[in-house]
This record gives sequence, structure tokens and C-alpha cells, in this order.
Amino acid sequence: MKAKEGVIDLLNKVLTADLTAINQYFVHAKMCDNWGYDRLHQKVRERSLDEMKDAEELIEHILYLEGVPNMQRLGTVNVGETVPEQLKLDLKSEQEMLRIVSEGVAHCTKVGDFTTRHMLEDMVKDVDKHIDWIETQLETIKQVGLENYLSEQIKKEGS
Ligand SMILES: [Fe+2]
Ligand SMILES: [Fe+2]
Repeated sequence: MKAKEGVIDLLNKVLTADLTAINQYFVHAKMCDNWGYDRLHQKVRERSLDEMKDAEELIEHILYLEGVPNMQRLGTVNVGETVPEQLKLDLKSEQEMLRIVSEGVAHCTKVGDFTTRHMLEDMVKDVDKHIDWIETQLETIKQVGLENYLSEQIKKEGS
């Protein structure tokens, strides 16, 4: 199926943001693992995998619309040196993602591409979920203090 005007471009923009997020979250997850924060490591790794599922869906949809997925372009991967820094940088990435995806939804409405719009709207839900989780972590750190928060992260999931 041929894409409506500007749709491939916007999908590639979302794809770039996703590929960048995959990398950023993956390295943050590995750093948490290295620090011994197993619980946080699992959570951030899951978030990286969520972005990978988004990227897969985007690539499939771009191909379906007879476009070429841009796998070369990558945004800046911002690596935080501490857990709070990582959380803040990831929050910024999600907020940027929300902006790009929302713009995409508006564009799809304008050109009448409801299938793509529906897909992007589902992605907005995921972005909201990610933002909510990160904001909760930052709020918890504020309330219980960084040391208490981090000592909880050492525990294995479920213990
Ligand atoms: Fe995503
Ligand atoms: Fe996300």
C-alpha cells in the first residue's frame, strides 16, 4: 500500500527516536547490572525491549507502506553516570518521543491515514506508561532518599 504524504518520513523519525532509546536504555540497564542493582537492571532492560518491539512494528509498517526504514540514523545516546541522572535522561527521551509521536498522530489525521494513526496512538500509551514509571522512581527517591531507594534495587525481583 502506498503511503500518504509525509507518513514515511514521520515513521522514520519515530524509528530514529526508538533506535536511540533502545541503545540508551540498554546501556543504562547494563550499568545498573554492573552496580549490582538487579531489580532496576531488569526494569530498565524491559523498557529497552519495549522500544525494540516498537521499532519492529515501525519497520514492518514502513515496509508495508512501501517505504524504506532508515536504520542508519541515530540520535544522541545520553548516558547518565548515576541512577538519578539515568532516570532524568530517560525521562527526557520519553518526553521527546511523546512530542514526535503526537506530531505524527496530528499529521496522520490531516492526511487521513487512520491505520498509522491508530498504531501511533497505541505507542503514546506505552510512552505514557514509561513516563509514569520513571516519574514514580524520581518521586520515590525524593521521598525515601537515594540510599534507601538504591538498597531496595539490590534485591532480586520478587524478594
Ligand atoms: Fe517506543
Ligand atoms: Fe518508551
